[in-house]
Amino acid sequence: MNGARDTFGRPLRSLRLSVTDRCNLRCKYCMPEENYRWLPSDHLLSFEETSELVEAFAAAGVEALRVTGGEPLVRRELPVLIGLLAQKPWLRDLSLTTNGVLLGPLAAALRQAGLHRLTVSLDTLEATRFRQLTGRDTHQAVLDGLAEAARVGFPLKLDTVVMRGVNDDELVPLLDFAARLGAELRFIEYMDVGGATRWRQEDVVSRAELLQRLATQLGELEPLAGRGSAPAERFRLRDGRAFGIIASTTQPFCGACDRARLTADGTLFTCLYATAGLDLKTPLRRGDGPALEALVRERWLGRGDRGAEQRLALLDRGPLAPAAVLREEPRLEMHTRGG
Ligand code: GTP
Ligand code: 5AD
Ligand code: SF4
Repeated sequence: MNGARDTFGRPLRSLRLSVTDRCNLRCKYCMPEENYRWLPSDHLLSFEETSELVEAFAAAGVEALRVTGGEPLVRRELPVLIGLLAQKPWLRDLSLTTNGVLLGPLAAALRQAGLHRLTVSLDTLEATRFRQLTGRDTHQAVLDGLAEAARVGFPLKLDTVVMRGVNDDELVPLLDFAARLGAELRFIEYMDVGGATRWRQEDVVSRAELLQRLATQLGELEPLAGRGSAPAERFRLRDGRAFGIIASTTQPFCGACDRARLTADGTLFTCLYATAGLDLKTPLRRGDGPALEALVRERWLGRGDRGAEQRLALLDRGPLAPAAVLREEPRLEMHTRGG
């Protein structure tokens, strides 16, 4: 059967698979509170359940998987899941987004299990700033993890959320660091997603401002073609280095969005900003495997999400949800639906 297309004709191609809602950092832009209402552990899909469920997505069109969290590496035995996913004959791309804290000891096992590539969050090169931004003292572990990931041969990307007055003076040092590592850096506009309870428009450094600042410091930037449905727009610097900008806040890319999200408890969301998810765990655990593809397909066919575009259209834009609302509905959180 053909892949599903939504009400805007967008195909379903990519699934972001959250394997835990827990995280070992408390980044100000994502998970600033110390405590959250966590998903009950008996609700988390087992690796076998996850492996079965992704088949329903594949049948509806998915060919790329990105493992996310929370922080995916806090999920015990994660390389075992990677091994199960890597064997799927339909899989074109298997990637993982991590904060890097636990990467050092796990990089070799992840590579061996068949993970294709890695994206690591890196918002600052300064240890004291890292502590202010994340509430934890593990900056060196991230740097060590990156070095180990490069050593074992992973293609690497770095994600930097740029926040005014926090890390926007590190654009060039971060680009230099990425070049030394052999990684491609992407600057991400600070987004008003669930979790960013202190989001303010003033703190966003827009794509336009980023480009202007980088051009002033580094010279002409050449836009690169071939973006497809990727969130990042790519540019080349005069010296040949490429970098990306993810401008979801000021220049959303919903028109090409082919991504679905699955929470660690098996709830399907068809947008980063969607408020209603579809429970797939219950039919899965009932042994209703064959019905799952139809459920995924039907949900995608009815999809009209363009959350970031709708946020952009708001006149008075603030945080998506206050902390009290998020406490009642943890699945609204960015960290529950995988960034
Ligand atoms: P590639 O496959 O390497 O292109 O990865 P990616 O850029 O899709 O994935 P990554 O996890 O590195 O995403 C980087 C950031 O882009 C996320 O953390 C989000 O901030 C943003 N992003 C990713 N997907 C979406 C999306 O569907 N909608 C919006 N609004 N932002 C997204
Ligand atoms: N704005 C932009 N990106 C965010 N992420 C999480 N919260 C935000 C936010 N408020 C992204 C970052 C981080 C990844 C896990 O999720 O890229 O590195
Ligand atoms: Fe896709 Fe929603 Fe992000 Fe738009 S806001 S790109 S529809 S996930």
